[in-house]
Amino acid sequence: MLGGSPVTEPVRYSVEDGIALIAVDNPPVNALSQAVRAGLDAAIARFAEDGEARIAVIYGVGRTFIAGADIREFGKPMAEPFLPDVINRIEASEKPVVAALHGTALGGGLEVALGCHYRVILASGRVGLPEVTLGILPGAGGTQRLPRLSGAEAALDLITSGRQVGAQEADWLNIVDYVAEGEDARAAGLEFARRLLVEECRARRTGEIDPGTKDAELFTSWRETVSRRARGQLSPVVAIDAIEAAYDLPLADGLVRERSLFTELMGSDQRAGLIHAFFAERAVAKIPEAGTATPRDLARIGIIGGGTMGSGIAVAALAGGLTVTLIERDADSAERARSLVEKLLNDGVRRGKMSEARRDALLADAFAAVTDYEALASADLVIEAVFEDMAVKKEVFARLDAVCRPGAILATNTSYLDVDEIAASTSRPADVIGFHFFSPAHVMRLLEVVVGDKTSADVVVTGFALAKKLKKIAVRAGVCDGFIGNRLLNAYRKAADYMVEDGASPYEIDAALVAFGFPMGPFAVSDLAGLDIAWAGRKRRAATRDPRERVVGVADRLCERGWFGQKTGRGYYLYEEGARRGKPDPEVEAIIAAERTEKGIVPRSFDSEEILRRYMAAMINEAAKIVEEGIALRPLDVDVTMLSGYGFPRWRGGPMHYADKVGLDTILADLRSFAEEDPYFWTPARLLVDLAERGGTFADLNKSA
Ligand code: CAA
Ligand code: NAI
Repeated sequence: MLGGSPVTEPVRYSVEDGIALIAVDNPPVNALSQAVRAGLDAAIARFAEDGEARIAVIYGVGRTFIAGADIREFGKPMAEPFLPDVINRIEASEKPVVAALHGTALGGGLEVALGCHYRVILASGRVGLPEVTLGILPGAGGTQRLPRLSGAEAALDLITSGRQVGAQEADWLNIVDYVAEGEDARAAGLEFARRLLVEECRARRTGEIDPGTKDAELFTSWRETVSRRARGQLSPVVAIDAIEAAYDLPLADGLVRERSLFTELMGSDQRAGLIHAFFAERAVAKIPEAGTATPRDLARIGIIGGGTMGSGIAVAALAGGLTVTLIERDADSAERARSLVEKLLNDGVRRGKMSEARRDALLADAFAAVTDYEALASADLVIEAVFEDMAVKKEVFARLDAVCRPGAILATNTSYLDVDEIAASTSRPADVIGFHFFSPAHVMRLLEVVVGDKTSADVVVTGFALAKKLKKIAVRAGVCDGFIGNRLLNAYRKAADYMVEDGASPYEIDAALVAFGFPMGPFAVSDLAGLDIAWAGRKRRAATRDPRERVVGVADRLCERGWFGQKTGRGYYLYEEGARRGKPDPEVEAIIAAERTEKGIVPRSFDSEEILRRYMAAMINEAAKIVEEGIALRPLDVDVTMLSGYGFPRWRGGPMHYADKVGLDTILADLRSFAEEDPYFWTPARLLVDLAERGGTFADLNKSA
């Protein structure tokens, strides 16, 4: 019942001074669940009948207007009323309807607003059509109404990227009519409606606007660019077809076309993968320590080492509002670190991410690069990012132990080393943790929070709080060689090296993985990261290596020639002066051929399907071990690690989601057949065998964890 409805109803109707107020109240984000759609529909019907109300205002209660469809309903049969019908009925209203926006009006939320006759937004508000990032397209009129308001170019931009725009830009793009000051969307909506009543306004329908003639070349060029960028993801490309329909067809037919493309995408595996990624990114924050401990205060942080990682971490921390003191070995190194930080901040200014004034203020007031550890006496947290060498790390931690105040957190950014051993070298192992950032640290979203045997719960939750401040995604990992991400990387890199030795070329392998959706293949990535880093790791591990392990010498041969990748102009690829993309190198192929001959290997050919099967089987098998050992809490933690730190194509949902889709029995059969040639490397993980044999999936473990 509306009107006298209890406050818990998701849509409420009331009238004030001749203005109908339609409040959407469905915490946390006013998603358009069936109850909200039905409530809106009933409210609009009631408004039509209500002789007292001359205009209506739809607004959201709580932190936001409507943040879109209820994503939890995706993949299930949709219940009536359907959103496009509700929006069509809003647009058809004889009396005007105003949308008063605040927070984030996204997806179906913005589509509701586009169906309204007027739109007012608070200055802090944002709007967007993020559907393509979830594997679908705006299916409730967004692709038909947005171009009518903003023109084809803006619609193509916003819909194919899914990017959000602020109130001001929304105004420029004609998406909204008015930007209001203040914090209260209901009040802004009321005031705007009162003004409209004075002006004797009418129901002004977006759908009745003539979109103008189609610029066919514009669509052709967007199709080319978006297809290239999408790397196999369908939704942004299909969305262009829907937008084009706004120009080719009358509104009613355009809406039908949009809906049919929407329904097609809704049924796709890509949609399932992207929705899995969306919820997995939120679920990783659900860790055993959450709720049992409160984060420690974080305002002042120290960073030891201002090289590649230290400088990037410093910039991420500064952008997150923290004060940073960076310690280097000597004055020259400190000066170099300062210039590196300044350069990264300048890049931010150039890209429009930061104003010059803010950069200057950060450098003057929030950042110092010095050599004296005493400067860290009052730090809340210190992150060590010095060379990857246990002796150097221990020496640094001993100094930190001596100067830092009790309660300060001591973190290491090590990529592989034993966090427990580092912790044990201090008098306060409970305060020691691994914060494993990714390069470039001010850009990459992943932070592995590596929890040692003795790390206390409040230190763990502080890691998650830090990630939030830095706009990163934290994944909880246990201690082992490489934690989650680099341990997996080691496994699938080995599978790639084995294939090279057996006959595949690095270029074929890279091409197969790029076709799968990775931005780069593993050999191009090695060239980018620098082959010397992995070389040092191999030398470190050589003494303790299991004699059963198959070892491929190709990378060592390249390193012995001083070919460390992009930075030296040569690695697996040949880089012409200043080029970032390399060309296949016949000399590398000759080196590989010589290695094969020396080992008596007769090369055979690999097609891209086999390359993928081996690469993915190695990744999934190691991931299963990581979950089995408790290094990752759940399969979804592995997925988020690979998606946000290692370029795994998001629309495939991550390796564990992918494995479920392929079928664990298929993966297991592959592993068993590969194990016949090399049981040491390919023997299937127990968890994988158990799951496959009882018909289970990794997704079951996500639910039960
Ligand atoms: N449906 C269901 N649940 C949602 C949701 C949605 N659209 N959006 C957010 N949630 C849930 C989250 O899962 C989270 O739940 P838990 O607390 O249980 O983890 C909770 O709401 C809060 O979300 P966040 O932690 O993300 O909160 P935030 O303040 O950081 O961000 C937000 C808020 C910007 C709205 C962000 O949640 C977001 O981007 N949501 C998705 C918006 C979106 O993509 N909408 C389009 C949907 S598709 C569509 O509308 C097409 C159509 O069919 C009409
Ligand atoms: P880098 O060589 O670029 O920088 C290390 C810096 O530490 C140098 O500037 C050096 O002068 C300084 N330093 C060395 N000893 C010091 C000391 N005792 N006191 C103060 N400063 C000292 O190395 P990079 O790449 O930044 O790596 C740092 C750490 O981060 C390593 O543990 C590495 O494994 C890890 N890491 C590296 C990633 C990468 O992609 N480069 C990714 C994630 C982690």
